[in-house]
Amino acid sequence: MKIFLDSANLAEIREAASWGAIDGVTTNPSLVAKEQREFFPLLKEICEVVHGPVSMETTSRGADGMVMEGRVFAKLHSNIVVKCPLTKEGLKATRQLTQEKIRVNVTLCFSASQALLAAKAGAYFISPFVGRLDDISSDGMGLIRDIKTIYANYAFTTQILVASIRHPLHVVEAARIGADIATMPFSVLEALVKHPLTDIGLDRFLKDWENLPDAAKAWHARATGLAGAPAPEPEPKRSSRAAAASQAGRSAAGRGRRSGG
Ligand code: E4P
Repeated sequence: MKIFLDSANLAEIREAASWGAIDGVTTNPSLVAKEQREFFPLLKEICEVVHGPVSMETTSRGADGMVMEGRVFAKLHSNIVVKCPLTKEGLKATRQLTQEKIRVNVTLCFSASQALLAAKAGAYFISPFVGRLDDISSDGMGLIRDIKTIYANYAFTTQILVASIRHPLHVVEAARIGADIATMPFSVLEALVKHPLTDIGLDRFLKDWENLPDAAKAWHARATGLAGAPAPEPEPKRSSRAAAASQAGRSAAGRGRRSGG
């Protein structure tokens, strides 16, 4: 399963990219507005950092406006995927943009019937919002299971991008179901890494390491460059003939000693 970061914050995106953890980014108007920056340069910078799809959402209500925005977005960078809402107008725009070979992420999906229509319109991604469904006592992950079954039944190629993820279990469950992608805020990505036993284990290893004799610790620090001192020269490599010769010499000396010579 691919992992996308649901963020328009460059510092978060850079950090997550440095872990080799993300395959793409999703943004939405709320996330972009938080950054208080011009939209296009920001999205272009994100595309330079992330080597994968970057979803950029239209802000029109009508299909014509979405199509106009989508055409411009798509020219900004080859990573851009245009995001359209799951409304009748959004479906019209999806169909049009898809016919123009522009990839569309159909967002704000809350039902299996909506997901079916998005696939028929040619959506590249469908974004069902699991967290917002859970918030109103509906089964968010149940929707992912339904969409997975329906798309498999009819061999739709639209990829399921699980959105509105709130915690690590959403991610694990999405992977279990076989969703194509999970997009999550930076806080959830961080939570995926953390385990208290990892931290306790590392503390114990490093405490035990302190019991090493000082000379051995110093040697290690020099060898790895951690001490800031130049690492010791590696032992000169001897040719196999030289090694054999010295071995022969040692054996002869041993024989001499044993025979009292
Ligand atoms: C997806 O593309 C959306 O940006 C996002 O997942 C919405 O999540 P939220 O419900 O946490 O706002």
